[in-house]
Amino acid sequence: MTAVTKAQVACLIGWPAAHSRSPLIHHYWLRTLRIEGGYSIEAVPPEGFAEFVLHLSAHGFVGANVTIPHKERALALSKPDARARAVGAANTLWYEGDELRSTNTDIEGFLNNLDACAPGWDGASDALVLGAGGASRAVVFGLIERGIKHVHLANRTIERARALADRFGAAVHPVSWDAVDDLLPRAGLLVNTTSLGMHGQPALEVSAGLLPSHAVVADLVYVPLETPLLAAARARGLKTADGLGMLLHQAVRGFELWFGERPEVTPELRALVEADLTKV
Ligand code: ATR
Repeated sequence: MTAVTKAQVACLIGWPAAHSRSPLIHHYWLRTLRIEGGYSIEAVPPEGFAEFVLHLSAHGFVGANVTIPHKERALALSKPDARARAVGAANTLWYEGDELRSTNTDIEGFLNNLDACAPGWDGASDALVLGAGGASRAVVFGLIERGIKHVHLANRTIERARALADRFGAAVHPVSWDAVDDLLPRAGLLVNTTSLGMHGQPALEVSAGLLPSHAVVADLVYVPLETPLLAAARARGLKTADGLGMLLHQAVRGFELWFGERPEVTPELRALVEADLTKV
């Protein structure tokens, strides 16, 4: 009998199956690293999610990314690591032996992108984070993990900022949206996690001119690639980290867990995804 090596296949589970750049990213790495594998998009409705995930391997997958609306259920149906538990949502599933594990790679996506774009950014003692939704949880946890002393968290609905402060402790200071201008002059790092500034959404009205000259600015929005906030920061000569960089860096860990090699975020990959973004 001849041994047949089956190609390893991972997938993205979502509902509805929205257009995603993840296949483009993982196919690029599979191709350049010469790994025989695949990455597909699986549209799984909420009522079918538990069955699909609990039999992921039987469905032919070595692991998966999970997106809206399944991230909280994915956490509950697997054994999460500390990061997924901290964020309260899992976006990556893999097997450790027979055990289905989960993590949240948004945290390292955010941190590794900042390290690549603005080394030394974590010297800041004060960060100002705009927004208190799911993406903000990953950002805030990452900042605390990296030892930022004061994370000022501004949100339109201040109760959500307070809830994050309760979750993550005394380093997080919830503030009202009106307080943003007063905080900008001492923010060594400004992060936009809201949808403001995204194509089709209202503008983000923040005066980058009030930031100190050593400030670093990160925006999680990547459509458009250069948001007005990033453009204003660059015009001032500030270092910036964009949402596409975070998207690419967050994909690294899943690939490594499923296919056994740690891929690199290269300029060639970035250009490939940038070209795809312009098709929208
Ligand atoms: P995600 O998971 O991407 O973070 P989310 O949980 O829906 O998405 O959070 C969206 C964030 O953008 C929230 O902080 C939201 O503020 P509220 O908590 O007050 O809703 C913020 N946001 C969205 N539209 C906004 C607007 N027009 N003005 C101010 N903040 C807005």
